[in-house]
Amino acid sequence: MARSGLTARLGVDLPILLAPMAGGPSTPELVAAVSGAGGLGSVGAAYLSPEQIADACRRIRALTDRPFGLNLFAGGYPASAQVEARAALGVVAEAHARLGLPAPALPAVPPDPFPEQLEAVLETRPALFSFTFGVPAADDLARVRARGILVAGTATTVEEARALADAGVDAIVAQGGEAGGHRGTFCGAFEAALVPTLELTAAIAREVRVPVIASGGLMDGRDVARALAAGAQAAQLGTAFLACPESGASPAYKQALLAARSDTTVVTRAFSGRPARGLANAFIAAAEGRPGAILPYPLQNALTRGMRQAAAKQGQPDYLSLWAGQGVARVRALPAAELVRRLVDEMGT
Ligand SMILES: Cc1cc2nc3c(=O)[nH]c(=O)nc-3n(C[C@H](O)[C@H](O)[C@H](O)COP(=O)(O)O)c2cc1C
Repeated sequence: MARSGLTARLGVDLPILLAPMAGGPSTPELVAAVSGAGGLGSVGAAYLSPEQIADACRRIRALTDRPFGLNLFAGGYPASAQVEARAALGVVAEAHARLGLPAPALPAVPPDPFPEQLEAVLETRPALFSFTFGVPAADDLARVRARGILVAGTATTVEEARALADAGVDAIVAQGGEAGGHRGTFCGAFEAALVPTLELTAAIAREVRVPVIASGGLMDGRDVARALAAGAQAAQLGTAFLACPESGASPAYKQALLAARSDTTVVTRAFSGRPARGLANAFIAAAEGRPGAILPYPLQNALTRGMRQAAAKQGQPDYLSLWAGQGVARVRALPAAELVRRLVDEMGT
């Protein structure tokens, strides 16, 4: 396959990127399988400590010598949070009771992990550093680029793409409204930034002179080909890889994905305090049904962590964040390298 400017710079054969997926799905095995198959695997490292990031990189490098990426949350972290938490604690307490857990307590706001995580990125030197939720400080980006690491930022609007281009990124991930997981929106309201992936890709490619990586709802090779035709130099797929055996999604999560027969996703703040797209379930209905029951990020994320971990262990999808994009009904439970090969075959059909 002919390399675009971006794939050549990344040193990969295929214009196919595994979306970074924080919280467990992007295991070293999944990342290495996608990179080994000629695409670019990426670690969603936002919830990892610097030691865990270094360990993930060691494990990937033991499995493949191909390039891979690391991704962090960059921005939107509150300095402090004074909140009225009674309603939120009440909803999570009901979930805890059903899961046999003791009543939850209000967690403290943990410090922003980004500065320490960035040091781990600099030390481990992945081929690509990507980020979402904002734009890192110019000094930070300069240090990353000085190490020869390419930089990609996430945009959900043309305005955000311009801000990223002004910051000197090497590529822009155009995250369309179909995308699974957190909305990367950092300028304005997320509701005003749910542009369909192909529309957003074409608009950014037209308006900004930085390579575009299309992301959101891309599930098969025909989708990838359409994204490239819309002006993208590569496509980034998340949900498509979630049900692979190498994915770290829990069995209950994978089952819920494979059971979806149509788009049953919603965008909700219920699990983390930040808007994210996932399969609708009982916890979302309960939290959204009670006024004031969702705390801001990262408090809500910390508050629901125990519930989510217990639900995964107990195989209880009603209390899990089941992040998924709108193409979820087309998810395939194939080994990741096999899925990459299928995507390539389908691109020509
Ligand atoms: C489970 C899950 C976790 C995600 N975590 C991250 C993340 O840590 N960082 C990030 O930039 N994007 C994250 N995303 C969003 C993806 O980068 C991408 O925009 C999305 O997966 C594309 O839509 P698709 O899932 O329909 O392919 C996540 C998506 C999912 C489904």
